[in-house]
Order: sequence, then C-alpha cells, then structure tokens
Amino acid sequence: MAKAVTSGPMEIIRTDCLVIGSGLAGAAYALEAARAGLQVQLLSLGGPNDANSDWAQGGIIYDTEIETSLLAKDIMEASDHTANPAAVAQLVEEGPAAVRELLLEGSKVGFDRRDDGSLEFTREGGHSARRIIHARDLTGHAILSAVTSRVDANPAISRQVGAVAIDLLTLSHNTDSAEDRYAPLTCFGAYVLPAGSDQPVAVVARKTVLATGGLGHIYQHSTNYPGTVGHGVAMAYRVGARLIDLEYVQFHPTVFYGKNAPRFLITEAIRGEGAELVNVNGERFMDKVHPRGSLAPRDIVSRAVHSELAGSGEPCAYLDLSALDKDYLCERFPSVYQRCLEHGVDITRDPIPVVPAAHYSCGGVHADLEGRTNILHLNAIGETACTGLHGANRLASTSLLECLVSARFAALADAKEIAAMDFKLPDPRPWQSPREESDPTLVAQDLNLVQQTMWNYAGIVRSPRRLTRARRILLEAREEIQSFYRDCRVTRELVELRNAVQTALLVVHAASLNPRSKGAHFVVDE
Ligand code: SIN
Repeated sequence: MAKAVTSGPMEIIRTDCLVIGSGLAGAAYALEAARAGLQVQLLSLGGPNDANSDWAQGGIIYDTEIETSLLAKDIMEASDHTANPAAVAQLVEEGPAAVRELLLEGSKVGFDRRDDGSLEFTREGGHSARRIIHARDLTGHAILSAVTSRVDANPAISRQVGAVAIDLLTLSHNTDSAEDRYAPLTCFGAYVLPAGSDQPVAVVARKTVLATGGLGHIYQHSTNYPGTVGHGVAMAYRVGARLIDLEYVQFHPTVFYGKNAPRFLITEAIRGEGAELVNVNGERFMDKVHPRGSLAPRDIVSRAVHSELAGSGEPCAYLDLSALDKDYLCERFPSVYQRCLEHGVDITRDPIPVVPAAHYSCGGVHADLEGRTNILHLNAIGETACTGLHGANRLASTSLLECLVSARFAALADAKEIAAMDFKLPDPRPWQSPREESDPTLVAQDLNLVQQTMWNYAGIVRSPRRLTRARRILLEAREEIQSFYRDCRVTRELVELRNAVQTALLVVHAASLNPRSKGAHFVVDE
C-alpha cells in the first residue's frame, strides 16, 4: 500500500562545486577549486575533522628522488603487479609538489624534524626506503587540521557540518523534462539532509565530487571512522556509474585486540621502527612467510596473522616491542601509547595484542586521472575513487598522498571545464517525504547483520560457498531495508544503512565474479 507522503517547496542551493565528504581529498579539492575562483559547498558527515584522514597515523610519502626513486616499483610490487602504471606515474611525479605546496609551504604542517631542521623519514611495510614523513603517530590529524583551518577561512567555501548526501541528482532521474530523461547520464548535484533536520534540500551544482572515503564499516571490525560505509560507491551505483576492483578490500594486520576494548589502529610505522609480529609463544612467524618479515606488504601480513590464529586457535597475535627504546616509543608513538594504556596495555613493558581489521578499499568508483567518472560532471577522488593506483593491494602511506594529487588534478580540470560550460542547471523534482518514523532498533540490528555477514563470509579469506551465503543474506536484507526506506522519513541512520547494504552487495558481487586470488582478494576452494 502506498504510504502518505508530504511534498512542498524544497530549498535549492546553487553552487559551482558540491563536494560530498570533507576528509583530506574533499578539503584539498575545496581549497584548490576556491583558489581557481569557484564557489564550493562542502558537506561534512560529522564535524570538520571527523574523517578517516584524521585517524591516519603512519605518514605521507615525500619522495623527491623522482628520477631514481624505487617508489613506482614498490607500489607495483605491493599491488601484486596489478596497479595502473599511468596512475602510479602520476602519483610518483606529482606527489612531491603537492606535498610541498599544499602541506609544507601552504599549510605549515608540523612534521617531525631532526635536530638540524631537516624532515625525519620513517618506513612502513612494502617500502624499500625511508621516505615517509610524519607528525609522531598523529600525521592525519596534523595534516587535516592544518588544511581544515584554511578551508574554513576561505569565503568561497561554505561548509555544511553534519550534512549527509542522500542521492545524486541526474537529468535522467530527477527532473520533470521528458527531454532530460533521454540525455546522456549527467549529474547536477545531490539531495542532502542537513544536520538536525528531516527535510532534505537540493544542492544543485555544475560539478559534484564524491569524496566520501572508504567502506570499512560494512565490516564488523574496521579501522575506519564510524559511518564509513561506501556512501559514494552506493550513490554512484544507483545512477549508473562504473565501479571497479571492489573485491580488493585491504585488511590492516595490526589493530588493537582486547576482550572488551574497541579495535583501533596500531600503525605500521611501529614495525618500520623495529617492532616484530610474534605469536603467543613469542615466535616471529613472518620470517617464514616473506623475505621482508614483519614489513612484508600488508595483504601478506594480514593473511599470515589470520592463518596463524586459525591454526593455533589463539584470539590474537602480538607486536613485540622489546627492540625499541622505551622513551623513544612514548615520544614517537604517543597516541598508540596512550590508547593502549587506557585498555590495560603498557607498551613500555608489554607486547601489544593485535588482530587484522578492514582498513582500505583499493577499488571504488572508476575515475580517470582528473577525477572524471563515466557520469558527466560527476567526479570521484581519494579512497572513493579507483584510478587503478593501488591495483589489488595498496602500498602503505600512499592514501593521503593520493588524496592531495587526485584533488588537485580534479579541481584544476573542473575549473577549466566550468569556464567553458553552457550547461543550464535544471530544477530538481521536490523531495517527497513519507510520514512514518523508522524504528532505530531495527535500523541498528540490520546494520549489525550486514557487518557480521561481511566479516564472516567476505573477509580476509573467501570461498565461493561463503560468498554465495553472504549474497543470499544481503539480498534479503536489502529488500527489507528498501521497504523501510520507501515508507519512512529519511534519517542519517537510514541513509547509512541503505548505503551499507548496497555497498556490501557490490563487494560480494565483485568478489564472487573473480575466482583469482590476487593482493587483498584471497579465495579458497572449500
Ligand atoms: C598505518 O599507519 O599503519 C596506516 C597507514 C596507511 O594505511 O597507509
């Protein structure tokens, strides 16, 4: 039975660029676009710093030896030789200027320095050299805070805090003109739910940029910021965007484990400085697995931890820190020290209990090297996008750098295109709100079901049978969730659930279609 709906005049905000997501990719795009003279509406799901980028601990690659650098080789090797060489070349060649101009000179980020004032470099898994700059173990926070204060001081950028994008607007789906229906797939903004409101508005834009981060929270255990469920992937899918490589979900091997404690990241840089992965008996099991031992590429380490735990029945592995000086540990890794202490582990004395957790989506919305998707005027940048840079497995500390480079190239291309554009922005159809309220208990329970299904059947080790099971459960859940969605007033929790189940199905579908184990996608035949 059709539910009663209300529809009335809808607020319409018009802008040059709508940026959905304000982590490092979205914030950097906003800055570059504003610098090029464009007006920007920037949507933050939470507060300005509530994003995955803020939680990045390890660092950002700053390798100025472009000619002789082995960086391209390391990215290729980490990806199991599946990365896109053009995307790798762009990152290697353009990365240093982006870091210098945006972070070192433009935002004066306080990276750690040696006594002589030069930058201090660390290393992480899969790197053949020390080429990662950092701000102790709070690198993402230092970078995003510095960029955010510039964003918020820029009058051309208008930030909507706590706003969630519901659906993209396209000519084919959201106008009343019959002619528009047959036009090429073209995006012109999004329906957005402002903070504290149940009345969506339309943000109509010449360019719409998906910068919603990853999808870690479709899994039960994740290093990601809460609410990171592949919003961009799900919205893009619904309007016909090309998605690629979604089976390659990277699991981080070292996430804190405690019986009643939350999971949180223990940066790979700690292994870069000498910590070793050991089992409950103190044995260094990585030495048998890879010549780089605990510093092997991440997919290999995560699988090794998983198989060690499956074999022993133990709940976790450990990071042995005995080779590191205690004062140095506390000084260099203050947030790891503090958070472990809060959960009963003193890292100056004890090894850190660790398990793997979902960390990064190597796949996403297919984008070219200037952020364009197959939908006209819709861009994807940062983790939401997939240019093929990471192939089947990402090299550590490439993600913040990718945010800067992809944001810069997309914004510059958009500025040129907007200047030459004669596309008249249409009025979208008003939003129709059903009257029923959603039941928060059902919404939370359904999200739990999605996360558990993904963790149990589409995690580090997959099999055709597990994936088939996941698909069946998720298809049924999607039916149920779609019916809520049709009948109930929209809330941010409902938007999150709808996108989570859609993204989960897309990951499972991609994994089911790919029988070949590569990088982060590992399939067994049982
Ligand atoms: C870490 O600090 O281990 C995470 C860095 C990354 O994912 O690149």
